[in-house]
Order: sequence, then C-alpha cells, then structure tokens
Amino acid sequence: MALTEARAVDGVTGQSYNDCGKHMISALKKNRVTAILSISEALNQIKDIDSLLDRVLFEARRFSRADAGSIYLLENQKLRINFVQNDTLTRKESGKKYLYQNHSLEINDQSMAGYVALTKKPLIIADAYHLPQAVPYKFNRSFDESAAYLTCSVLTVPLITPYGKLIGIMQIINATDENNSVIPFSNEDELVVSFFANHAATSIEKAKMTREIILRMIKIAELHDPEETGAHVNRVAAYAIEIYSAWALNNRKSEDEIKRIRDILRIAAMLHDVGKVAISDLVLKKNGPLSADEFKQMKGHVILGARLFKDSTSDWDDMAAEIALNHHEKWDGTGYPGEITDLFAENCSSGPGKKGAGIPLAARIVALADVYDALTSERIYKDSWPEEKVLQHIRDQKGKHFDPELVDIFFSIYDVLRAIKNKYSEN
Ligand code: C2E
Ligand code: SIN
Ligand code: SIN
Ligand code: FE
Ligand code: FE
Repeated sequence: MALTEARAVDGVTGQSYNDCGKHMISALKKNRVTAILSISEALNQIKDIDSLLDRVLFEARRFSRADAGSIYLLENQKLRINFVQNDTLTRKESGKKYLYQNHSLEINDQSMAGYVALTKKPLIIADAYHLPQAVPYKFNRSFDESAAYLTCSVLTVPLITPYGKLIGIMQIINATDENNSVIPFSNEDELVVSFFANHAATSIEKAKMTREIILRMIKIAELHDPEETGAHVNRVAAYAIEIYSAWALNNRKSEDEIKRIRDILRIAAMLHDVGKVAISDLVLKKNGPLSADEFKQMKGHVILGARLFKDSTSDWDDMAAEIALNHHEKWDGTGYPGEITDLFAENCSSGPGKKGAGIPLAARIVALADVYDALTSERIYKDSWPEEKVLQHIRDQKGKHFDPELVDIFFSIYDVLRAIKNKYSEN
C-alpha cells in the first residue's frame, strides 16, 4: 500500500535541507507568494476562530497535498490541540469522531510538536515510525492506534506573530504525490507552509481574542459558575454546527454556503441564552423548581436576548437575534414566545407559539442542541439524566418539541456528538 512504500524513503530530511535551503526562497515563484498573500487577506475576513483554523489548515495542506493536519494553540503554557483535519478518516463515516481530540502537550523536547514550540523552528520528518537516531522526541502512536490511521511524513511549523510571539504550532501529515502515494515533505513545502503560518498567526490571534471576548460576555451574562458556562456554550455551538452540516448535506447546500453559515452559526449559537443577563439571580440560581411567576420572568430571556442584537452591525447579529428569540419554540407550536409584533414594547408577551418550518432553522437546531446539553448536564436545579433516558426523551419529542428531520440527523451523527461532549467536558 502507498503508505508503507513511503517508509522506505528515510533520512531525506537533513540532507536536502542543507543543500538547497538558501535558493529555495528565490525559487518560490512570485505567483505563489501572491497566492499566499491573497489567502492571508481572505483570512482576515473570517471572524470565528474555528472557521479560521479550518481554512488555515486546509490551505496549508493544499500546497503539499497533505492528507491530514492539526493545529495546537498555546493555552496555559501548554500546546492544546484545537483543530484536526484528516481526509482519510473523514471519508469513513466512523472516522469523524476522531477529529474531536482533546489533549495537551508540554513545550519540551519529548514530542515533535513540543520540540518545534521550544525551538521555534520548522521540523520535517520523513517517517514518524523511523525517527533519526539522535533526536530527543518520540512519536506518540496513540492517535494512530485508536483511529487505525498510519502517520508517515510529518511537517511541523511554529505559528509566530510578526512580534515574535509564539501562539501555537501547525502540524501537517502525509504529503502525497499525484498518485496519492505518501511522500516526504520537501524543503519548498517547509518554506511555503512556514511563510503562510506566519501570515496566518496574526489572524488567529485576532480571532482568538474575539472568541475570548464573547466567552467573557457570556460569563458576565449568565452569572453562573464560569467554568461550566463556557463548556456549555462551547458544546451547544459544536453540536449545532455538526447538526447543521449534516442537514446541509442532506439538503444539497453548496460548500460555500455551508462554510459561511457554519462561521456565523457557531458564534450565534453560543449567545443563545445571553438574555439571561437581565434575569434576577434569585430566579436564575434558584435551587429548585420555579413558580409560575418565576418561570414567566425566566421566559423573558428570549426577548431580552433578541433585543441585544437588534441594532448592531456584525455578520452574526441577525442569526444571533433569530436564535435568541426562537430557541424555546417547539415544532408542534407549544413553545414560547410566539409571534412578537414589537420586540421593544413594554409588555410584549405573546400569542401562540410558532410552528414547524415557521421557526427559523438555526433556532430549531439550537433548541435540540440546548435541550440535549441541559439534560445531560447537571444544573443547579436538577441532576444530569442517564444517557438512555436523554435519548429516549429526544426520540419521544420527535415532531413534538423537535423538528423530526433534525432528530433523525441527531441519531445519525450521535458518535460525533458524544466526541464533542467528551472534548468540552469541563473546559
Ligand atoms: P436550561 O437549563 O439551559 O434548559 C434549557 C431547556 O432544556 C429547557 O427549557 C427545557 O426545554 C429543557 N430541560 C432542562 N431541564 C429539563 C428537565 O429536567 N426536564 C425536561 N423535560 N426538560 C428540561 P425551559 O424549560 O424553557 O427553561 C429555560 C431555562 O429556564 C432553563 O435553561 C433554566 O435556566 C431555567 N429553568 C427551567 N426550569 C427551571 C427550574 O425548575 N429551576 C430553575 N432554577 N431554573 C429553571
Ligand atoms: C501528538 O499527537 O501527540 C503529537 C505528535 C507529536 O507532535 O509528537
Ligand atoms: C448555563 O447556560 O450553563 C446555565 C443554564 C441554566 O441552568 O440556567
Ligand atoms: Fe434559553
Ligand atoms: Fe442554554
């Protein structure tokens, strides 16, 4: 098989690097540089960190036709895996769950990634299973073993801002030739990918800041245990993205549209409960069932949330308003708040609930994601439910609380949703 053939090529690395490192730069064709710069421009347009990492990794892999890759970002002095792509695993239905990894590496010479972060220099490895004798790092086989994948050639580059600050590393795996056989990375790959990584680092840092500001906003808004709130919104957003993506494939949406919606949906979904900012602590943190009056106050969070987005100007505002307002509507029309004529009216409590496809898709998706997460988590007013009881509830509510098509999708991607739950378990 192609992957094993490539192992015969060993030690290519050090040699050709010394020979031609210098004039490789001039060999970089002008139009390639132009291409990288215009990609960098495009990266600045992408606001959500996950969409951005997705694009950065995709473009970096494209240069070397690499099968897989991951980005680790610096968090609390460690490298935390933030994003994974793997074409081989994505082609298999059962492989997708491995893309939600949750591990951290120390910045030291024990792993390739740690070594690159330590030295701030790119590293080419021809075959991860046959490392050169003298190197300090080892290859960790646990990912290959659990996912039945075979890592061979590896290119790891540091992500460094123009101010010299290390923000993480990018690792791309298994370069291929035109016949899809795995080959080693070349020195040109290294130069192009490093150049690109340095340009991408600035956008990544900006997008990370946006995400952090939003998470802080949510913490302030919810006045809950901050740790749990961050994990809750991250999970709801990730579930929503995956449910949407599967829905979009079923409904033959274009690749471009899917990318665009994923970008705004993730942030909008995170903000679904931000209207709780205006709900009294006495109600929000009540350690037990709510009275009718308290529940009436609580229901106001959907209107308060929608108001927050009504006259701002960023891309995700419309969707955020739509989700905030409609995430407690139910498919059968028994949800709240129902049609609202004037969002800013003093007392705008409402008529009968919206129904079926009259509820915006994004809100139908978040409704399912939010309830799944609420039931599988502990809340101040309830214990978490056993998994089987949660799944039974979702099955029972198909066509009642939830859009039936989305419930089918939920079960068809359940292993991915479980992997997400695992990844954001306590944050
Ligand atoms: P949340 O905790 O994020 O829950 C979101 C939704 O998950 C709920 O919307 C409901 O549809 C579903 N859910 C949560 N827990 C349960 C449960 O034990 N059984 C069932 N069948 N469904 C559940 P809902 O009911 O509109 O509530 C909106 C928000 O109101 C909740 O958000 C929570 O913040 C608050 N809330 C609801 N009930 C209580 C309560 O009894 N005590 C307190 N302190 N807060 C409550
Ligand atoms: C890992 O997956 O643990 C990272 C591999 C490495 O960089 O050594
Ligand atoms: C949360 O979003 O983590 C809190 C939901 C709640 O229990 O009110
Ligand atoms: Fe809510
Ligand atoms: Fe919620």
